[in-house]
Amino acid sequence: MASAALGAKVKNNDYRSIDIGILSAYITAEATAQGLSTCILGWFDDKKIRDICSLDSTVRLVITLGYAAEGDKLRAKKRKELDELINTVE
Ligand SMILES: Cc1cc2nc3c(=O)[nH]c(=O)nc-3n(C[C@H](O)[C@H](O)[C@H](O)COP(=O)(O)O)c2cc1C
Repeated sequence: MASAALGAKVKNNDYRSIDIGILSAYITAEATAQGLSTCILGWFDDKKIRDICSLDSTVRLVITLGYAAEGDKLRAKKRKELDELINTVE
């Protein structure tokens, strides 16, 4: 962890947030594959979450998992086009 913090400072790039994002993508994708619904939460009462989960360090993100209610229709997803997100260098 210290190396990630140092690297982030030296390169001014928050690698740990990138790691959290990658992990969240895998967890939510696997949950969906197993029929679970998920909601990622970044806006929450950190102290309450730490108390509920008996954690003593800052909580950066919460991923809620559960089964959608019967007939709960997933709303249409708005997604950017791939070429808006990636820059392919050949
Ligand atoms: C890093 C992150 C933090 C989020 N935080 C919240 C949140 O605090 N509350 C909430 O209702 N949704 C939260 N969301 C869910 C977003 O609202 C949701 O992903 C977005 O509306 C797009 O919806 P979709 O991914 O289902 O298309 C968060 C999503 C991400 C990726």
